[in-house]
Amino acid sequence: MNIFKKTIFTGFSPNLTLRDTLLAVSFLVLPWKWFFIRRGNNVSVVEREIEKYFNIKHCYTFDSGRSALYFILKALGVKSGDEVLVQAYTCMVVVNAIKWTGATPVYLDVNDDFNLSVADLEKKISARSKALLVQHTFGLACPMDQVMQIAKNNNIFVVEDCAHAFGAKYNGQFVGTFGDAAILSFGADKVISSVRGGAVITDNEEISKALKSYQDNLPLPRIGKTIQHLMHYPIFLKGRLFYSLYLGKLILGLAKKINLINKIIYKEEKMGEQVSFYPAKYAHSLARILLNQLKDADRINQHRKKIAEYYDGNLKNAKIVSPWLNKIKKEDCIYLRYPLLAEQARALRAYGKINGVILGDWYNSVIAPIDIDFSKTDYNAGSCPKAEQLAERSVNLPTDRHIDLKAAKRIVDLLNKF
Ligand SMILES: Cc1ncc(COP(=O)(O)O)c(C=O)c1O
Repeated sequence: MNIFKKTIFTGFSPNLTLRDTLLAVSFLVLPWKWFFIRRGNNVSVVEREIEKYFNIKHCYTFDSGRSALYFILKALGVKSGDEVLVQAYTCMVVVNAIKWTGATPVYLDVNDDFNLSVADLEKKISARSKALLVQHTFGLACPMDQVMQIAKNNNIFVVEDCAHAFGAKYNGQFVGTFGDAAILSFGADKVISSVRGGAVITDNEEISKALKSYQDNLPLPRIGKTIQHLMHYPIFLKGRLFYSLYLGKLILGLAKKINLINKIIYKEEKMGEQVSFYPAKYAHSLARILLNQLKDADRINQHRKKIAEYYDGNLKNAKIVSPWLNKIKKEDCIYLRYPLLAEQARALRAYGKINGVILGDWYNSVIAPIDIDFSKTDYNAGSCPKAEQLAERSVNLPTDRHIDLKAAKRIVDLLNKF
């Protein structure tokens, strides 16, 4: 690795800005802000802003997208004995949220575009199906007209998982506004971030009442946890900057080891268990940071499209294919990441790393991350063959605000030589 060349990341806190870092640090060092680290009116301010953005009646924030999902399922009355349809090629925290309601996840296979297969949905929907979770993977919308029709015919609830797709559209309408409700995630690697956070949006008054009561009864997040989230900013800022000098890696490794920063997914969650400190309310300081991010959302999504367009036009290696190329409605997709398929995905990621380009590995397992306890997922190996194939071959490219056309060219040149 050339230590004088800036490392290019996929993920690694892709929405980090100096402005947000200064804001986070201000909560840590200014004594008059300490009281407002967890409590304050920014939580409701950001909820109202999100309602305006989507032109939807209700938004309720939670500590994370996974908690938001747990509470929306509960609000819909999902319980033991019910089935929740969910696509394979998803994240363990999604599965946990379903299982913690007592329901059973029923996995749907996917298409080449990484989204659920409508044909498999029609096959697996049953009298026990209570809800369908629709994941708009990497920012590409599922065919919502077909999905909603099937759900209506079978009288089941639809929850849209917009963790990857804040601002994406289907036929010109925001995803998240088709189903009975939708979840949003403000995790570090998502479209807009406050390191951790999530929300439910809905137009349904009854669901809204239930969500309000769940939210009201939650504790504030622990102060130690919120400090970890704020510490994420200065540490990742330095970590990104000095990564190629090995110093960045050291800073990040050390910060994780001594619990100065949070984990995206905890060991207990990988084992299908709940952690003691969540679910909780969303913190005021993080909501303040999200307000900044919200203002940037459309501009950043436009930027993502521009970078994706560059990849579309310049990747020319028959060993690495873009399954979306010439197949999707580009103007509606927000390209949280630019997904590729390669026969030698692992070798490709290793080759990228040696050359200072950390390629993404979403999702390198049919339920990610790869080191979970699969016995806790109710997933039967072989039941979603396409999702398994994609997981073997997935590699993703960054499209975030830190990637300019020069960086995109560096990535493309590297990939074309592989
Ligand atoms: C597809 C998908 N849905 C939901 C979530 C949950 O979001 P959060 O990390 O905010 O809990 C994730 C998170 O990692 C995800 O990848």
